Amino acid sequence: MSKTDKISIKWKGRKIIMRLIKKVTAVSMASCMALSLAACGSSTSETTTAAAAEATEAAGDSSEAADAESTEAAAESTEAAASGEVANKDKPLVWFNRQPSNSSTGELDMTALNFNANTYYVGFDANQGAELQGTMVKDYIEANIDTIDRNGDGIIGYVLAIGDIGHNDSIARTRGVRNALGTAVEANGETDSTPVGTNTDGTSTIVKDGSLEVNGTTYTVRELASQEMKNSAGATWDAATAGNAINTWSASFGDSIDVVVSNNDGMGMSMFNAWSKDQGVPTFGYDANSDAVAAIAEGYGGTISQHADVQAYLTLRVLRNALDGVDINTGISVADEAGNVLSENEYVYNEEERSYYALNVAVTAENYQDYLDSTVTFAPVSNQLDAAEHPTKKVWLNIYNAADNFLSATYQPLLQKYDDLLNLEVEYIGGDGQTESNITNRLGNPSQYDAFAINMVKTDNAASYTGLLSQ
Ligand code: BGC
Ligand code: CA
Repeated sequence: MSKTDKISIKWKGRKIIMRLIKKVTAVSMASCMALSLAACGSSTSETTTAAAAEATEAAGDSSEAADAESTEAAAESTEAAASGEVANKDKPLVWFNRQPSNSSTGELDMTALNFNANTYYVGFDANQGAELQGTMVKDYIEANIDTIDRNGDGIIGYVLAIGDIGHNDSIARTRGVRNALGTAVEANGETDSTPVGTNTDGTSTIVKDGSLEVNGTTYTVRELASQEMKNSAGATWDAATAGNAINTWSASFGDSIDVVVSNNDGMGMSMFNAWSKDQGVPTFGYDANSDAVAAIAEGYGGTISQHADVQAYLTLRVLRNALDGVDINTGISVADEAGNVLSENEYVYNEEERSYYALNVAVTAENYQDYLDSTVTFAPVSNQLDAAEHPTKKVWLNIYNAADNFLSATYQPLLQKYDDLLNLEVEYIGGDGQTESNITNRLGNPSQYDAFAINMVKTDNAASYTGLLSQ
């Protein structure tokens, strides 16, 4: 039994230490809720009241023993009582997948990242992954140079599906592709990541024509079109919108499209299924969702694994560690008692940014067999924690858009496996991808949870959540 299961109460002027069994806590919580929801916010007095009834009984037959024990355990109980009333603003908080940041400038929101001593971000290394994606596309073009130029005009034309122009991961991927293919133009000291609309004539000022020399022949590389895939209701990374876009583009300049690139697999697969699969046009995405990896056997060009198996683990692991009051890198850089540990091949930690970043791996025809199921936990961190040492804790977790392919088909299934391994009881909330309030409305009683994991709709909106936790 853990320390927090002990409680100290006063009964007839004597201090009594009680060992609270879980059932008692549950019963007292339930009756507390039945009586008054508002009073439950500061539940210590309620719990004590409920426990007092039981104490009467216990004290009756062993008040002396209890007395003796009380002195020795007093210090412990003080600590227990304190941990029983952690203010919401002091509870562990992890932002994941959408890093608190300014959606126009990309600048990190350090206020949100430093909300309290146990606040972290978990994502992946966007620049390393973006470069990998760009290189993967370029390598493919070079390796298939004899067949890639479908209309033989000497121009290798590509179209690009952009996820969310205000999401730093999306921006990084757009830049990575343009940098690798030589189509990047600088704006304010960085590669411009603005969508071009259409640029079939190569006159855009947002991108330029690149040139690629392969086996002594020089080819032009042109971004024929790119667009943010946002639907009319406002949902970004929208797969259906990408499917419509490729239909529109191909209807007017389909012969010029030699390569399709997408900021993610959800949109990439939508374009592949709508058009490029039948045309034999290589299509590249990001995320290594199971369906996209399987499609590599049918001509999908490749994808990038952002190591969701490591990210989902980190997301819940930092909360577990904070709740256990142990070193934050337990089971991460340092093996825990169950043997869970990660290596530097899988992630980096940036202390200043309070951020854990998983590393990316390219998934192509050469290695896709190893990535067919994106929901398998990462073996080195798949050992069950001992429930006695790590008692169940409650976590509130939201997914910004229940329809997001990556988060719903890859990330959440992984979280659901790790929550068992880490003894966390997670309540999963799915948003509509458009309105923050749709999610924050469901964080009405943060006091019911021990920790929070947040995936914002818009990266600027951290304060909508921290505001609720600070009340
Ligand atoms: C994924 C996208 C997803 C987005 C949501 C990205 O990391 O690659 O597929 O739509 O996160 O925030
Ligand atoms: Ca061509």
